[in-house]
Amino acid sequence: FHVDWDAAAAEKGGFPSFMAKEIHDQPQAIADTLLGRTDPAGKLVLDEMKVSEAELRSVSKVVIIACGTAAYAGQVARYAIEHWCRIPCEVELAHEFRYRDPVVDERTLVVAISQSGETMDTIMAIRHAREQGAKVLAICNTNGSTIPRESDAALYTHAGPEIAVASTKAFLAQIAACYLLGLYLAQVRGNKFADEIKVVLDELAQIPAQVQEVLDGLEQVRGIARSMADTRSVLFLGRHVGYPVAMEGALKLKELAYIHAEGFAAGELKHGPIALVEEGQPVFVVVPSPRGRDSLHSKVVSNIQEVRARGARTLVIAEQEDTAVEPFADVVIRIPQTSTLLSPLLAVVPLQVFACELAAAKGLDVDQPRNLAKSVTVE
Ligand code: G6P
Repeated sequence: FHVDWDAAAAEKGGFPSFMAKEIHDQPQAIADTLLGRTDPAGKLVLDEMKVSEAELRSVSKVVIIACGTAAYAGQVARYAIEHWCRIPCEVELAHEFRYRDPVVDERTLVVAISQSGETMDTIMAIRHAREQGAKVLAICNTNGSTIPRESDAALYTHAGPEIAVASTKAFLAQIAACYLLGLYLAQVRGNKFADEIKVVLDELAQIPAQVQEVLDGLEQVRGIARSMADTRSVLFLGRHVGYPVAMEGALKLKELAYIHAEGFAAGELKHGPIALVEEGQPVFVVVPSPRGRDSLHSKVVSNIQEVRARGARTLVIAEQEDTAVEPFADVVIRIPQTSTLLSPLLAVVPLQVFACELAAAKGLDVDQPRNLAKSVTVE
């Protein structure tokens, strides 16, 4: 009796790549990041962070710094933090923040997001922030790494080790941790949003199962990705929290499939990028929930019409019940219903799978793309 044993294949849990496995680990990564962070009464308990409630109450500005995919998690967080906490929140690439003489002081909460905890650009930025007197909170996936050690406080994501160079499950865990931070700030500061915290937490608790639902329905996206192996350029549009999702979708495609890709704010289309659209140009559009309060949904639906009228092939990510997109979409990719602020956790998943599958169809090594490192420890 002979068993072929391949340690690398075993670690991938039957998936063709670490990335494919890590994409499938995402429901667990989010669930583990949320786990144990509420008390039986449903209040958030983040004592492990080790910043006092008095300090959090005195915060006048939040500045999020990060690089790469982690910076897009920060951009998502900004919408949530400003909406829930009514505190101004800026997001900046760590290497830009460090060298522009940023205005930070003792009442600034700097949030450094990093999967590895070893990104040198982010380390230099937090050193600079602390020299100016700011409090630094790390959101990190790696226990005991440099960034949490050099920060005043840390909130860990529990995504587990991420092996593929391009980040997937750590990204979703970072967004989930940012939501916890935003809700906790709202809870501690007791603003008028405080009553709604429980509602958001309940919605958040459903996200792992909803991500699973998205993953279970992605055969369509895989087929489309395989059919697009010769594509030279893909555009991604989104608005509000869909904007960082669009940029992350573009980044994944650049990183994994070496395809020119750009993510745009959908409202910016008319100010320039629409000139790029010609016959057959694939355009992904991340559509906000039609149940949202404002008119964002109809504006993005108009954007789909505009690019389609110019020949674009529209690949639309929309909520299950959203029928308004159908007349203008060549392909509709469905995601379950959740509130707008939480929707990036669902909307980005098809884009990750698209990039991963397309790169695999091109015969590329999705776990170790050329020229990239998992953790960039030089400035
Ligand atoms: C590298 C990786 C990216 C990652 C970025 C930030 O560029 O290739 O996937 O998003 O670093 O890494 P960090 O460990 O700080 O989250």
